[in-house]
Amino acid sequence: MDVSRQLFGIMPDGTEVFCWILTNEKGFIAKILDYGATIQSIIVPDKNGEPVDVVLGYDTLEGYISGDCYIGATVGRFANRIKKGRFELNGEKYELCINNGPNHLHGGEKGFDRCVWSAKQIGEKVVFSRTSPDGEEGYPGKLEVKVTFCWEGDSIKIEYEAETDRDTILNLTNHSYFNLNGEGKVDEHLLQIEADRYTVCDENCTPTGELAPVEGTAMDFRNFKTIGKDAYNDEPCVKPFGGYDANFVISGHPFAKATGDKTGITVVADTDQPGVQLYTANALTEQKGKGGADYGFRSAFCLETQHFPDCVNHPEWPSPILRKDEKFRSFTTYTFICGRTEKQM
Ligand code: BGC
Repeated sequence: MDVSRQLFGIMPDGTEVFCWILTNEKGFIAKILDYGATIQSIIVPDKNGEPVDVVLGYDTLEGYISGDCYIGATVGRFANRIKKGRFELNGEKYELCINNGPNHLHGGEKGFDRCVWSAKQIGEKVVFSRTSPDGEEGYPGKLEVKVTFCWEGDSIKIEYEAETDRDTILNLTNHSYFNLNGEGKVDEHLLQIEADRYTVCDENCTPTGELAPVEGTAMDFRNFKTIGKDAYNDEPCVKPFGGYDANFVISGHPFAKATGDKTGITVVADTDQPGVQLYTANALTEQKGKGGADYGFRSAFCLETQHFPDCVNHPEWPSPILRKDEKFRSFTTYTFICGRTEKQM
C-alpha cells in the first residue's frame, strides 16, 4: 500500500492542483485530483495481466476545467435533479439555478466538481475537505464536507462525511465513467443490478413519483445482460434519454456487478445509499480523453450512488435533509476482480 502525490496543474488563480496516487498491495492504482475530488484513473490488470485504465478522464487540468460532463468528479451539494430547482425546507422556499432543461442538476453552475479541495494524507487514506459557505449555489447552511478515498484490499472505498450549521439538503455522489475494456463502446459489457423497482421519470428525467417494477422493462438487470441489449428499446424508460439515465431502488447488496467483455475485468459496486443512477453516457460529448482516446456516446457507464432524484420534493422517499448538528456519513465501494472470467449467464 502506497500513497504519493504529484503536481497535476495550476488553476488560473495560481492554486496548485495535485494528483494523489494510491497503490494497493497488488499494484492496482487509483489517481485522485484535488480538483473536484475527482477520480482521474483506476488502473487494474486484465485477464492477461495487462494494465487497463477502467475510468474516463483527462491528462491535463485544462481538460477538467473545460469539461462539462462531471467525469470522475465528486458531485454536490445535490447530485441529480431537483425539479424546477425548487424545494421547501422548514417552511422556507428555495430556488436554485436551472442548468438542465427545466431542472437543477448536480449542484448548480459551480458545484463541488469545480472546486479545488484541501487534501491530506492520513495513513493509507487521502482526505479531501472543503467548506461550502452558507448560500453557495443557493443552498442553505455552511457545510463542512469530507470525501475520503482509500484502497481496502481490491476495493476503492469512498467515504463521505458532512456537517452543517443550519438545516440543509445533501446528496453526494461520485461521477466516474467506467469502461472496463479501457476504450470503445460499453454495449457488450455485462451488467447486473440488484433492484426490483426504479423511479419512473417524465421526458425531462424528473421523477413522477411512481416506483415501478423493473420486471418486463428495459430496466430489468436482475440477471446479467449486456448494457446494449435493451438500451435502444422503444420504451419510455430509455427512449427519451438515448439509453439509460435512470435511478434504481437498490434492493440487495452488493448492488451491482459489471464485466468488460474484452478484458474480463469486473467491478462490484456497493453502498449504503438507497439509489443508483445508471447513466450510459448518452450525452457524453465527442471528445479526446486520456492518451488521445476517443470518448463519446455510450463509451462508458456510470453507477452514481445517491438518494433518489428530486427526493427533496417527495417526502415519502428517503430524506436528503441534513439537520444542524447531525453528522452525515455514507460510503460507496468499487471492488475490482481481475485476471479471471466468471461464469455469469
Ligand atoms: C445525469 C445525466 C447527465 C450526466 C452528465 C447524469 O448523472 O443523470 O442526465 O447527462 O449526469 O451530466
